[in-house]
Amino acid sequence: MEKQVKRIGVLTSGGDAPGMNAAVRAVVRTAISQGVECVGIRRGWNGLINSDFTHMSATSVSHIINKGGTILYTARSEEFREPSGRAKALSTCKLLGLDGIVAIGGDGTFRGALALSRQAAEQGMDLQVVGIPATIDNDIGCSHYTIGFDTACNTAIECIDKLRDTMQSHERCSVVEVMGRHAGYLALYVGIAVGATAVLIPERELNFEQDIVEKIRRARLSGTTHYMIVVAEGAGSAMDIGKRIHEEIGIDPRVTVLGHIQRGGTPSARDRETASRMGYRAVMSLIEGKGNRVVVTQDGRVTDMDLEEGLQMAKPFPMDRYQILESLSCRQPGLF
Ligand code: F6P
Repeated sequence: MEKQVKRIGVLTSGGDAPGMNAAVRAVVRTAISQGVECVGIRRGWNGLINSDFTHMSATSVSHIINKGGTILYTARSEEFREPSGRAKALSTCKLLGLDGIVAIGGDGTFRGALALSRQAAEQGMDLQVVGIPATIDNDIGCSHYTIGFDTACNTAIECIDKLRDTMQSHERCSVVEVMGRHAGYLALYVGIAVGATAVLIPERELNFEQDIVEKIRRARLSGTTHYMIVVAEGAGSAMDIGKRIHEEIGIDPRVTVLGHIQRGGTPSARDRETASRMGYRAVMSLIEGKGNRVVVTQDGRVTDMDLEEGLQMAKPFPMDRYQILESLSCRQPGLF
């Protein structure tokens, strides 16, 4: 049953991701096209707590589809974790007359959204929320894809290609740390795309001898004189890995931590297009009155599902891709 939705809020929360602006734009423009007003909440959930908001017009989101970061700013809010913080946020929702909120971010953002909606219901308020998955880590269980991942992969690949030039010239080993505190998607996809000698991910226990020493030895015996080791930050420190390579193999690796550079930059075609479709779906699901939802991609299709159910889902890590990487980095000294 369609609900009469008059005004909604939109916010970005948690770590930023390229394509968040494209999602904000899609939410605002879809709302306006459906006769719904839109309020931008600044600095994540803190914006609701501190009444930090701005009216969004169609032109307020002009010229942002191509921009990294988020025009609404983002934050992680400790206060919002507490019922007292959420009570303040609900006062702002009442003041603004919000019927729903679109929250763009990761798992933590969605849990906050659900807690807010539940607390609203306890007070007899009807406040529905919709999550849009955006994180460069691609680690949201219910969605195959999260906004920002493709751009972050491309940024890391561009940096590593540059490193490769100098590593090749000097016949060196490079250890590159990419983001992914709890997930190895970025490291694995990037590792395949740059032709890495080895990739270390948190989803797989490290066997230093087998995963690094042996691979470098084999590569060396088959004539390679430079080696690229890609490490997800959650799999260990690149600095420590570099030191250990030096101790055990006697070569002197150069260590690069790509860090937050991976979170910025112009969003790729995939991120802009996915964010636009997700933003549209988020507003339509609020208008359709489906209750608390999360927008997801399933095999390239953008759809929405129950938020609570989505939060309980786990995404199987693509270990088949790790096997592909193993095959492609395989060296058989003396054979071929
Ligand atoms: O956006 C996700 C992520 O990039 C993680 O991979 C990383 O550990 C974390 O954010 C770091 O974010 P911050 O420095 O903002 O706390």
